[in-house]
Amino acid sequence: MTAPPGLERILFTEEQVNQRIKEVAAEISAKYQGRDLKLIAVLKGAVFFLTALARAIEIPLKIDFLAISSFGSGAPGMVRIAKDLDHPIQDEDILLVEDIVDTGFTTRYLLQTLAGREPRSLGICTLLDRTARRIVQVPVDYRCFEIPDRFVVGCGLDFQQRYRNLGYIAVMDPEKC
Ligand code: IMP
Ligand code: MG
Repeated sequence: MTAPPGLERILFTEEQVNQRIKEVAAEISAKYQGRDLKLIAVLKGAVFFLTALARAIEIPLKIDFLAISSFGSGAPGMVRIAKDLDHPIQDEDILLVEDIVDTGFTTRYLLQTLAGREPRSLGICTLLDRTARRIVQVPVDYRCFEIPDRFVVGCGLDFQQRYRNLGYIAVMDPEKC
């Protein structure tokens, strides 16, 4: 795909992303062998990662999706469920699949919401982790890459809804768009 106008540099190539997803998928396959794994992703950003991860995991699994939207003044963590999961998660082994854990507010909200539904276990798997900007601590069980404190696009991450379909992860300067 054509590179976005504000692209500064490629952080991880498509090959690096795919290779790392395979490694994390192997860890998950080993850990959840014989269990009742369900991957849950938040629309829309995490969908790209979820499908790549699911293809690379070698044990049977289920998937489900939810959507959230911000409310109020857009203050961090002010989110609500806009589309709920299709099915209950009680007594299932749930892995919340995230595109990026940034401040941690969104992830904490999701964890609290899902925990209330009594899954057997609840873990977090994220494509990107930007710990430099963390405000609330969340337990990340699996992460593909730690990234610097720069805005990124690709592999599901967007700038104004575009560039999700880039196969690589790139740093971009939104002011140059
Ligand atoms: P948090 O609640 O601050 O952890 O925000 C997480 C959400 O912010 C992610 O699910 C993304 O939708 C969005 N986000 C955070 N950083 C970036 C980025 O660098 N590029 C694109 N979206 C981002
Ligand atoms: Mg977004």
